[in-house]
Amino acid sequence: MNFEDQKYRIQGIPLTEIANTFGTPLYVYDGQKILDKVALLKQAFSKVNLKIKYATKALSNINILKLMKKAGTGVDAVSIEEVKLCLHAGFEPHEIMYTPNSVSFAEIQLAVEMGVMINIDNIPMLEHFGTFYGNSVPVCIRLNPHILAGGNAKISVGHIDSKFGISILQLKHVLKVVQAYDLNVIGLHVHTGSDILDATVFLKGAEILFDAAREFKGLKFLDFGGGFKVAYKPGDVATDILDVGDKVSEAFNKFCKEYGSELEIWFEPGKFLVSEAGLLLVQVNVVKSTPASTFVGVNSGLNHLIRPMMYDAYHDVVNISKVDGPERVYTIVGYICETDTIAADRKLKEVQEGDILAIKNAGAYGFSMSSNYNSRLRPAEILVLNGQPHLIREREEFEDVLRHQIDLDL
Ligand code: LLP
Repeated sequence: MNFEDQKYRIQGIPLTEIANTFGTPLYVYDGQKILDKVALLKQAFSKVNLKIKYATKALSNINILKLMKKAGTGVDAVSIEEVKLCLHAGFEPHEIMYTPNSVSFAEIQLAVEMGVMINIDNIPMLEHFGTFYGNSVPVCIRLNPHILAGGNAKISVGHIDSKFGISILQLKHVLKVVQAYDLNVIGLHVHTGSDILDATVFLKGAEILFDAAREFKGLKFLDFGGGFKVAYKPGDVATDILDVGDKVSEAFNKFCKEYGSELEIWFEPGKFLVSEAGLLLVQVNVVKSTPASTFVGVNSGLNHLIRPMMYDAYHDVVNISKVDGPERVYTIVGYICETDTIAADRKLKEVQEGDILAIKNAGAYGFSMSSNYNSRLRPAEILVLNGQPHLIREREEFEDVLRHQIDLDL
């Protein structure tokens, strides 16, 4: 969104025009911004053999996946359905990393049959894998580095009591299993959390990965997961990706020399690539003053964007229907029968019924975490590419809410 001229546009197209054409609520993604972020990440890690595995879960529309493919990334998928989506979007199996948690061995077998890279995150599955495949299928092992980092307790997953990964303290046990089944371990993986600002966290993760990697022969890659922090609030500091790139690359190259082979370095960013490229456009249904606050009720809510309620996440909101005029303080709320506060006590250009608000940073974990709660319909999605808005998902209709319900003759 261009704020400088105070006319809210994506690639020259006024957002109000997009809202008028396609209706609201509406997710809008700036394809160019996504491509620019991929390019920036490649630049940051230009001194190492980087493979980007975009975290599909952040925004999984097949057109976004196709855009990533065009930009030269691979993908990280966390469910068999995401694997299928990535294959559908045109990724080759070898470009897909499958990082499941708490899935059945049957699902892992399905993924093996599809030919994707398997990332195992617990010892029992590693043993099943060994029993079935021995060394015939290469495998990656997800380790839990026991680093506490990330923006919110729910998205800090590298701590000691996390369900993710195999504790680094159990490395000896892992090595025994690897030896017993002669496993062909070609990668090691860590993911510490989301919203990580500090380069030292990635360096700490790197040291833990390097220490573990010294115990394995024949590794081809080390996967550092995702988690780069993006700016959500005005004035927020984001991960300095060039700085992280420099520091991690230096440590990585040093390790590769010691290891005696030029390993690939993998990252699985979600937010970094798509958060800032996405907006949720909503319309004001009501402006309601109470003795305490002035509420702005919009035609959306936690069913479309759950991040503010689930993680206390801050999303910047602007009134794109008003370029000039006075500002007032409002609390923007959804239309769901829950306290679904999208943004509390925010200064916006004076709001009237019918105005369109843009909720920023809605690209990552926006649509992909949406639901039909309150039997509401999910929004349409638009991808703006080469100055053109493209409808990439139709708005749901009432029939979609009824779909799959069995109408008994009662
Ligand atoms: N790799 C793995 C194994 C992950 O579990 C995740 C995120 C990522 C990569 C990508 O992380 P990112 O670069 O997007 O921070 N719904 C939450 C975030 C959950 C992240 C789950 N795992 C949110 O909206 O903040």
